[in-house]
Amino acid sequence: MPRIFSGIQPSGELHIGNYLGAVRNWVNLQHEIESFICVVDYHAITLPYVPADLRRRTHEMVVTLLAAGIDPERATLFVQSRVPEHTELAWIFNTITPLGELERQTQFKEKAARQESVAAGILNYPVLQAADILLYRADTVPVGEDQIQHLELTREVARRWNARFAEGYFPEPQPRLTPTRRIMGLDGQAKMSKSIGNTVGLLEDTAAIWDKLRPAVTDPARVRKTDPGNPDVCNIYQLHRAFSPADTIDHVAVQCRSAGWGCIECKKVLHGHMDAELVPIRRRAEELVAAPGRVHEILGDGAARARNVAQVTMREVRGFMGLD
Ligand code: AMP
Ligand code: TRP
Repeated sequence: MPRIFSGIQPSGELHIGNYLGAVRNWVNLQHEIESFICVVDYHAITLPYVPADLRRRTHEMVVTLLAAGIDPERATLFVQSRVPEHTELAWIFNTITPLGELERQTQFKEKAARQESVAAGILNYPVLQAADILLYRADTVPVGEDQIQHLELTREVARRWNARFAEGYFPEPQPRLTPTRRIMGLDGQAKMSKSIGNTVGLLEDTAAIWDKLRPAVTDPARVRKTDPGNPDVCNIYQLHRAFSPADTIDHVAVQCRSAGWGCIECKKVLHGHMDAELVPIRRRAEELVAAPGRVHEILGDGAARARNVAQVTMREVRGFMGLD
């Protein structure tokens, strides 16, 4: 039976890059495929942090995911550290993963370059990610483009473990990308990312989003309002493709190429369509913030469901490995 697993770090703010690259896919796919959605707090502690902040960020991420449309009746939504089998399987996978393969990961090299002292957890981060996915024997992982290399490593781990202990036991999971697999920041310079500070938060209010959209970079070659623009190189057009209805997207491209609209006009239309999708999400988030007991209950239930599956896998894995 097909099964989805995906994870997100408790970064505090879910931004529209996360939403369009991954979360919107989770919301759509939960109706078709059994889904496990995990807030990965064990991944978040690989960098220095303050415990009270982590607790708050984890809660906020859960609230935002529920507000964005994750339905706890359909998807199993849980926090990674409540299911200790994740770290148990990660340890096992660490014993079969060559060091060189981990050192070659781009994200490791980038993070290590920024740190004076590098925790071993940063190197082993993708092994824990492989354990997350394979603990549920999931075959489909909806993520943004930046996770493709981690999934290659997950498949390597599955192949290597299967070859040694039980042929065919773990599936080789494939990424499932959206048409908006890599959203750029509004500076138009780099991927939208919390660590760069070029994000638009999913829960930011209407005025705050407009303050970010108004100065956002468009087609750099379009200097004056009367210059025709090229929507294919315009970041705002990419966002239209994510938020606006099909006829608007076509119309925007025509108006841009003919210099019929200036960029501000184009951004105003985008802002309206973003509001149409985001205002109901913000409203649901406010309701959930006012009901922490309900969120707590959802997480308890999610962890119990996840653990039921995880414990079966671990029993079998221990058996195949002579650890029983
Ligand atoms: P993270 O915030 O790094 O835990 O990412 C959570 C999910 O959002 C992952 O599936 C990422 O691939 C995805 N994601 C993060 N940033 C972007 C972006 N700028 N564009 C598209 N997807 C993204
Ligand atoms: N590494 C992912 C990110 O930074 C988060 C993650 C952890 C994840 N475990 C996962 C994603 C399992 C998909 C599946 O976005």
